[in-house]
Amino acid sequence: MVQVSPRTASSAPVTLIPFHAGTDVPAYRQICDSLREAIVSGRLAAGAHVPGTRLLAVELGVSRNTVNGALSQLRAEGYVVARPRSGTFVNERLPDTTFAVPWRRTAPARPRASSVGPRATERRARYSARSTILAKLPLAAGRSLVQPARPFQTGVPALDAFPWALWARLLSRRTRTSGGALSGYGSVLGHDPLREAIAAYVAAARGARCEPAQVVITSGAQQGLDLVARVLVDPGDAVWLEDPGYPAARGVFAAAGARVIPVGIDAEGIRVPAAGRVRAGPRLVYVTPSRQFPTGVTMSAARRFQLLQWAEAADAWIVEDDYDSEFRYASRPLSCLQGLDESGRVLYIGTFSKTIFPGLRLGYLIAPPSLVEALGEARGVADRQPPGIEQAVLADFIAAGHLARHVRRMRALYEERRDTLLRAAATELGDRLEFGDTAAGMLALAWLPQGVDDREVSRRLLAAGVETSPLSSYAIRPIRRGGLLLGYAGFPPDALRAAMHRLGAILGRRPRSTA
Ligand SMILES: Cc1ncc(COP(=O)(O)O)c(C=O)c1O
Repeated sequence: MVQVSPRTASSAPVTLIPFHAGTDVPAYRQICDSLREAIVSGRLAAGAHVPGTRLLAVELGVSRNTVNGALSQLRAEGYVVARPRSGTFVNERLPDTTFAVPWRRTAPARPRASSVGPRATERRARYSARSTILAKLPLAAGRSLVQPARPFQTGVPALDAFPWALWARLLSRRTRTSGGALSGYGSVLGHDPLREAIAAYVAAARGARCEPAQVVITSGAQQGLDLVARVLVDPGDAVWLEDPGYPAARGVFAAAGARVIPVGIDAEGIRVPAAGRVRAGPRLVYVTPSRQFPTGVTMSAARRFQLLQWAEAADAWIVEDDYDSEFRYASRPLSCLQGLDESGRVLYIGTFSKTIFPGLRLGYLIAPPSLVEALGEARGVADRQPPGIEQAVLADFIAAGHLARHVRRMRALYEERRDTLLRAAATELGDRLEFGDTAAGMLALAWLPQGVDDREVSRRLLAAGVETSPLSSYAIRPIRRGGLLLGYAGFPPDALRAAMHRLGAILGRRPRSTA
């Protein structure tokens, strides 16, 4: 154990580096984690001097190479900086510490005030590190959305076009015929007929390779992510996320104590390191290949193979979130990554939130067979099992061909709504909004002119009753150009046009030149 004293910022000695020889955790990793934790908790202050490698090596009884390995990892993460001829210092500008290893924090402070507010007599809570992390994240999943939904809220399917009468009939029949049998405790992995129906559906529609026994029914994609984190991620593990990307995935992995590493995307999808560069590979990579959330980029076939090969070399898991692949307007969707995976390292996540309705809270995970039991145990601990009657109704809905029919109808409807959105944007704003790829999905990314602050625009639009999501709020690192996410699938043409009219008024109208 070594006492680390800052030369600057505080004169008090700070922390100890607990180091245990003979554990499974490599020495460099223990040193790296301890120093990071001391920095994040503030016990090693910004600007503080980190003892030299020789001293640390002697005190800890390890080689200088081991210490160097730990320090170079911390340098790569931005926690420390090396100054020529002076040594190593804690960075004055720390990286986003919400992604740092959170455990062993003594008294976590939750930065965001609760909207409810404590009563004077209430005991002040000592929040867990997990909750403290979540409070700092821009979490879509933790926020209640305005009801009823209004343009351009994202993630909303056309609830006005759902076959409610048919659903009600199936629900009523199931309740009458098997309500008793389906109302008790059931399998943690889900209702078998539904698992069978899903396996057949994803094989036919998405080119997945799976047996019903690999299907784990979840409460939406969100629980799929949570179960993956519970089963595969330990605090301190590196998890790569697309940046910009899905905040609800970031929340799950950050709260699990993972070191979330943002990875950029280009026109072909997530940037995969060159072959051979696998030394600091992550434990897991989360991707949205069918339609990158939120930019709309479809991962190219070449990039899919490159990612699979790289993950195999790096021995990393891939989580494929295939949340809205059904809605592709221009061409047939590429088959899913899971279907191309020869080495059983892809966990496929699907959801009925887009194809049916989000309040149903049913989704699925297709896992390599060796992980299914552990995922079931994790599900059992989290919330036991999925709801019985709803699963059976959904299985009936799929087996009778209603899902395929509904998806076909919605594909045509969403394409029309997308066209309405693009036409209204051209009328109201000319070329002031530049759209990303709109060949698929339920939302469009509209790039703002360079230099326009997307959060500010979004705030002004909200005050005018128009919901947009600023692209920068989905990004971990600063972005070069702002944009707005415009959800269109859930709204009739008149509502889309009216909202675009207000958006035009706020952004300033400049009709497209007809020259
Ligand atoms: C990237 C992504 N994954 C998954 C989902 C669906 O989540 P859930 O199934 O938990 O409703 C969404 C919804 O907006 C999403 O954008």
